[in-house]
Amino acid sequence: MLLAKWQTAIILVLTCMFAEVAGVFVGINIGTDMSTVPSASDVVAILQAQKITHVRLVDADHNMLNAFANTGIEVMVGLQNSELLRVGQSKTAAADWITKNVAAYVPSTNITAIGVGSEVLTSIPNAAPVLVLAMQFLHSALVASNLNFQVKISSPHSMGVIPKPFPPSTAAFNSTWNSTMQQYLQFLKNTGSFFMLNAQPYYGYSSAGGIFPIEYALFEALTPNKQIVDPNTLFHYNSMFDSMVDAAYYSIAALNFTGIPVVVTETGWPSLGGSDEPDATVDNARIYNDNLIQRVLNGSGPPSQPNMAINTYIFELFNEDLRPGRTSEKNWGLFFQNETAVYSLSFSGVENTQANSTASGVFCVAKSDADQSALKTGLDWACGIGSANCTAIQPGNPCFEPNTYSNHASYAYNDYYQRTQSAGGTCNFGNTAMLTKTDPSYGSCVFTGSTGSNSTSGLTTQALGPSGSQSKGTSKFIVDKIAFFITVVIVLAQF
Ligand SMILES: *[C@@H]1O[C@H](CO)[C@@H](O)[C@H](O)[C@H]1NC(C)=O
Ligand SMILES: *[C@@H]1O[C@H](CO)[C@@H](O)[C@H](O)[C@H]1NC(C)=O
Ligand SMILES: *[C@@H]1O[C@H](CO)[C@@H](O)[C@H](O)[C@H]1NC(C)=O
Ligand SMILES: *[C@@H]1O[C@H](CO)[C@@H](O)[C@H](O)[C@H]1NC(C)=O
Ligand SMILES: *[C@@H]1O[C@H](CO)[C@@H](O)[C@H](O)[C@H]1NC(C)=O
Ligand SMILES: *[C@@H]1O[C@H](CO)[C@@H](O)[C@H](O)[C@H]1NC(C)=O
Ligand SMILES: *[C@@H]1O[C@H](CO)[C@@H](O)[C@H](O)[C@H]1NC(C)=O
Ligand SMILES: *[C@@H]1O[C@H](CO)[C@@H](O)[C@H](O)[C@H]1NC(C)=O
Ligand SMILES: *[C@@H]1O[C@H](CO)[C@@H](O)[C@H](O)[C@H]1NC(C)=O
Repeated sequence: MLLAKWQTAIILVLTCMFAEVAGVFVGINIGTDMSTVPSASDVVAILQAQKITHVRLVDADHNMLNAFANTGIEVMVGLQNSELLRVGQSKTAAADWITKNVAAYVPSTNITAIGVGSEVLTSIPNAAPVLVLAMQFLHSALVASNLNFQVKISSPHSMGVIPKPFPPSTAAFNSTWNSTMQQYLQFLKNTGSFFMLNAQPYYGYSSAGGIFPIEYALFEALTPNKQIVDPNTLFHYNSMFDSMVDAAYYSIAALNFTGIPVVVTETGWPSLGGSDEPDATVDNARIYNDNLIQRVLNGSGPPSQPNMAINTYIFELFNEDLRPGRTSEKNWGLFFQNETAVYSLSFSGVENTQANSTASGVFCVAKSDADQSALKTGLDWACGIGSANCTAIQPGNPCFEPNTYSNHASYAYNDYYQRTQSAGGTCNFGNTAMLTKTDPSYGSCVFTGSTGSNSTSGLTTQALGPSGSQSKGTSKFIVDKIAFFITVVIVLAQF
């Protein structure tokens, strides 16, 4: 189909979507609420294979901290909620915690931050009075060890601290915690630290009962009649992730603090859920995390803070089968406990610098929601000016069926990308293309760059190790109060 137009010179501006901005990163959470915990050395091997350079631990597991030594991986350690009261009530206990869990490992293990507690205000609100004290005591201990410039202290909050996150411009922290929040922000300001936010569009979307288009949760293009607009600022929000991060910025500003960056300490999507959780699927999880990585690595901030890159930790590396709650709670991982991939993901965005001509395991395919005529334009360009080898998608050849623009464009985009990537070729095609680590080959249709293997991970070691650790809550996003607002601002385009 439509290959007749190859000769037509189609001028398509292929922009480089992913300007690598120094310092922007997507890291990953490593939880341990599992019946079989992979060995620390396997964890490091997986991280290195995935080119993941930043991790967040829920605790300060000593085997893990040892394994991270001299790997170049930056580590955020966690002081668990169960330890908070002790450390918040005693300078000695805080100093002891720093000695055992931080000072003993730096500099060979690059510990750069401590997350104090997990969602303390919403999960153990009666510990709120000691939260900032614990942070201060830990900071004093760092100062005494001369580590305060290397290690930043903060505490992750759930979206539950912001009762009405939409529209972002009017968001504010629940005033119950005014004084705690003020002390917390003052501490961050004084120590040059950052606000830790657990932002989970999965909860925002799935509990909103269909108010949001799923594209909004998954960072996919919104049709002109479903734009999400803040009625006060007229900022368009391309994703719920951006609107959550902006809600945090506006809430901080409402308490008259500025210049405190927001770092997203947890965000992700479950790959499996119970029968009442239809949106927890492998496809949605892969799409969310793929698009999240590309979104974050583009280096821009949310609409109100365009220059504040959103450093982010994906939730999470492994499925945690012992996490309490619904089926989806146990299925946020990129990997099963047996260390095979649930789905694969490219952490490097398109900045995949390989010495060889093929992109080695990364494929460029048509986005599933791409507009048909845009796909046709991209396909014509790839097979024409782009000089992709489009033989395989000709009638009678292995990749002709299914005879759709999407399939043909995927083949042509990928062939173009594999040939040109090392010379700077990009995977964009008028924003109708995306990168994936999933080999799109099927049957006898083999995509360029495919190794011909159906396996997704070389790591299959069965590792035994210490199991258990306390459970950790992921933010529950209260939606009923925002539903009304969203309905109001899904504006209908007039054209
Ligand atoms: C980066 O992502 C934001 C949010 O989706 C978008 O508004 C912006 O245009 C992107 N920037 C580039 C350079 O692609
Ligand atoms: C640790 O990480 C920080 C922050 O990125 C970096 O500046 C520093 O060079 C790293 N230290 C080591 C020893 O790798
Ligand atoms: C603020 O938090 C308190 C304590 O958890 C809760 O009772 C109250 O309903 C919250 N306010 C809003 C507006 O959600
Ligand atoms: C919290 O701060 C806001 C903004 O300054 C103020 O309007 C509100 O009355 C305060 N609430 C409490 C409980 O102190
Ligand atoms: C923030 O600053 C404004 C202007 O100085 C002031 O009116 C307001 O009360 C302040 N709010 C808080 C929470 O300190
Ligand atoms: C790993 O675990 C998953 C989920 O339990 C299972 O589907 C898969 O077959 C296992 N893979 C191997 C190689 O054991
Ligand atoms: C490039 O390909 C050659 C030959 O297949 C291989 O020996 C070499 O290791 C590859 N280099 C990289 C960086 O992948
Ligand atoms: C184009 O691809 C076909 C297989 O689809 C192959 O037989 C042919 O050699 C390729 N042509 C070039 C110039 O690479
Ligand atoms: C991959 O798996 C599919 C379905 O199991 C099979 O038809 C195909 O031949 C396999 N491809 C390769 C290259 O092994």
